[in-house]
Amino acid sequence: MNNLPDNYFVFNSIGIIHSPYKNKAPNQPLVNDQSEFKIILNKKYSEGLKLLNTFTYIYVIYYLDKVIRNNKMVISPPWANQQKVGIFASRSPNRPNPIGISVVKIKKIIDNIIYISGIDAFDGTPLLDVKPYIDKLDAKPDANYGWVEKEDNENHLALHLQGVPHKH
Ligand SMILES: C[S@@+](CC[C@H](N)C(=O)[O-])C[C@H]1O[C@@H](n2cnc3c(N)ncnc32)[C@H](O)[C@@H]1O
Repeated sequence: MNNLPDNYFVFNSIGIIHSPYKNKAPNQPLVNDQSEFKIILNKKYSEGLKLLNTFTYIYVIYYLDKVIRNNKMVISPPWANQQKVGIFASRSPNRPNPIGISVVKIKKIIDNIIYISGIDAFDGTPLLDVKPYIDKLDAKPDANYGWVEKEDNENHLALHLQGVPHKH
């Protein structure tokens, strides 16, 4: 037993995410970005990658280590026409526990390195976990856009959500 309170947890980073983004990244992963994106897992966990290459997509879960905390429970996403939404109804990085999650495609896995499609994390972001994204289990055909639907048509919104530059 230790003397830490019950609601205090310590996680160690299990690797590092590498991306071309130093201090500006898209709002969500850009699957067609051809730059190099990779996850370097700490070597001691390499065996844990066994058969991960049988999946096409993974969840990447990471610590948003460069977030400047502001404790706001209601925020206004930059692309959402000043719509105010609760932090938990958003994908904002400025949340009480700054944990990011992205679904990305596996390109190849060599030893302890997972080469992936674009991810919206800064270069050097600490990795917390990797899990397989599994068809039927994870893909929800009746998923919607929630409050986001009110803003505009879905194709246009997808561009905003991903932070893809486009003309109005
Ligand atoms: C809107 S968040 C979404 C993160 C994740 N896809 C999610 O939905 O949980 C993505 C933004 O987080 C910021 N970000 C990326 N890596 C970060 C890091 N290591 N520390 C703080 N902020 C980071 C970037 O500004 C990026 O545009």
